[in-house]
Amino acid sequence: MAFPLDLISKRPTPFYLYDLGLLDRTLQAVNDSIATHPDFHVHYAVKANPDPILLSHIFMAGLGADTVSGGEINIALQAGVKPRDIAFAGVGKTDRDIKIALNAGIGMFNIESVQELDIINDIALSLGKKADVAIRVNPDIDAHTHHYITTGIAENKFGIDMRDLDTAISHAIGLSGINFVGLHFHIGSQITIDTPFILLCERVNEIVARLDSEGVSLRSVNLGGGLGIDYEYPDRHPVPDFGLFFDSVKRHLDIPAGIEVHFELGRSIVGQCGTLIGRTLYVKNGHSHDFAIIDAGMTELIRPALYDAYHFISNLTGDAEHRPTRFYNVVGPVCETTDTFATNRRLSRVVRGDIIAIRSAGAYGQSMSSHYNSRRLYPNLYI
Ligand code: LLP
Repeated sequence: MAFPLDLISKRPTPFYLYDLGLLDRTLQAVNDSIATHPDFHVHYAVKANPDPILLSHIFMAGLGADTVSGGEINIALQAGVKPRDIAFAGVGKTDRDIKIALNAGIGMFNIESVQELDIINDIALSLGKKADVAIRVNPDIDAHTHHYITTGIAENKFGIDMRDLDTAISHAIGLSGINFVGLHFHIGSQITIDTPFILLCERVNEIVARLDSEGVSLRSVNLGGGLGIDYEYPDRHPVPDFGLFFDSVKRHLDIPAGIEVHFELGRSIVGQCGTLIGRTLYVKNGHSHDFAIIDAGMTELIRPALYDAYHFISNLTGDAEHRPTRFYNVVGPVCETTDTFATNRRLSRVVRGDIIAIRSAGAYGQSMSSHYNSRRLYPNLYI
């Protein structure tokens, strides 16, 4: 990615920079890859980044919205998505948010428990409406990703156990405020190999075939999100290989024609277009490490602190001046040991004032930022 250093250097830091050209190319790649699969529909997982400008590009490209709160439903509607293209998921939906969703006329609730079915049914009936519902199934598949972002194994809180699915479906079919339309799955995030998705397709095939033999027909199957991005080499793979992903799903999914296949991609849509920009405050030469202390911290990007996540980092100022490299621990200003972006990272020699770019921060970066230490982010820059 080419960074406009002159422009960046003049702005107060820390801030997020978004490359809208890259976002548009990513969206184009999604649309090109599903063009040959007319039954495939992609929703964007708003939680990855609810920035209104990004959302408007995403919805202009024709993607739907996968939401997890009334707040996200409202933000998505304001950014121009059609209500019918909104799905509402989440293990703990509040009554208030269920009402917002029903009043907006969203396309689908993804429900996670039988009790939730009853509550949505009651609220729908009280509003004189009927809710289209998919049941989230826990397929008991290990996504082989970070433990904290694995969601599809039996011990997780997510979805309905496969053994309880038939009971849940019969219950849903018996409720007059509910229209049972399909199944929902999501096995985890930042999945970089296709085996977990293949296992998911096989599991879906089994379940759909069994339901079919029992006379239960489905309008849609939602395979969730989870496609990973290249955090190590963001410039080598700025756009994920959507073609490979969708083609692999198409090859392994064997369900009756006419069932819509939905996806809810978050990270793979916005991850690479966002960069956290910080400025070097101090360089501290320790006995074992040199520390580059920057004005961005875990409050702006919590992923390294929370998941020990790797983000590619560069010293934009040092690179522009072709300085020799050295190893640094890149840390933020917060009084927490985990406020560390990288240890022993090779960067162009760092001096006070240098602009530091933390890459692949478009997903779960700004959306998970906090005000701890009464800190603030400065306005986003869109290029
Ligand atoms: N669908 C459901 C039901 C989800 O829970 C998620 C993400 C997605 C779709 C979108 O997944 P994606 O395509 O973005 O992988 N904060 C963590 C990631 C948490 C993901 C939560 N669920 C991180 O920074 O890595």
